[in-house]
Amino acid sequence: MKIYKVLPDLSRQRHMSIWHKALRSQWSAEDLDWGKPQRITKDVSKDQLAKVLTPIIMGEQSALYSVSGLIPKLGATCEVESQFYLTTWAVDEARHTELFARYYHRIGREPLPIRKFPSGYLFQSAIVSDDVGEWLSGVLISEVLAKLVMEDFRRLDLDPVLSEIADGILVDEARHLGFNHIYLEERFATLFRKAQEEGQTFGDHLRSRLHRVLQLILPIFEALGPDMRGVGLDPEALFGELEKDAMRRLEKSIEAGQKVAARESAASNPAEAARIGRE
Ligand SMILES: [Fe+2]
Ligand SMILES: [Fe+2]
Repeated sequence: MKIYKVLPDLSRQRHMSIWHKALRSQWSAEDLDWGKPQRITKDVSKDQLAKVLTPIIMGEQSALYSVSGLIPKLGATCEVESQFYLTTWAVDEARHTELFARYYHRIGREPLPIRKFPSGYLFQSAIVSDDVGEWLSGVLISEVLAKLVMEDFRRLDLDPVLSEIADGILVDEARHLGFNHIYLEERFATLFRKAQEEGQTFGDHLRSRLHRVLQLILPIFEALGPDMRGVGLDPEALFGELEKDAMRRLEKSIEAGQKVAARESAASNPAEAARIGRE
């Protein structure tokens, strides 16, 4: 156990504000009405949905593992405010895992096992890192993908419970993306203040990491393509949006950090971060 300081100063106001927001926004799978009649009744549709949801439930579980593992790391670098926030991120991912596990029970199906879906496992393994900045750039792909798929589920309205799950998760994911921006912006501001070159080098490192993780989505979409189309998702359009949105978010955090370091702008406030998370 590593406690950096017995009395943390908790001076990162923006991180504290997003932590309080996360605490106040908690909800439970028990709040949903699981007894609502199912709208998906055909066996073939249930089979397709079970396959399509596999990378989603895998993503929720691996996010829970990575976030939990990073909590002690942030203590060791005295980033206590981020450590606080990550405890709520872990709760969010635990809730998402429970929601999808219960949803599988609702449709009476199981996700694909790892041996039949190695691409899903390889993708999740590529995101893992002991460095929070590295992890955040990889997890951007997973978070943005979850956001895009949940928006599609809400639009498709396949089943009332799935739509309710999508509504709740979208609020949580927006908060995760908001924190992602605040954390990376501060990290880049610190690096750019030290030296332009340090910021540029780390920026290039995260860009290539994001590209590597993104490429691992292609075999997943290839394996699930027909089932995705079957439930109404468009894998090509989804990949295009994912690439564009994830890159845009990373560039925005790098640029914001660079401007803060050059005193060209103030660090994003919590309201801006919340907007960035939602957009
Ligand atoms: Fe999640
Ligand atoms: Fe998330």
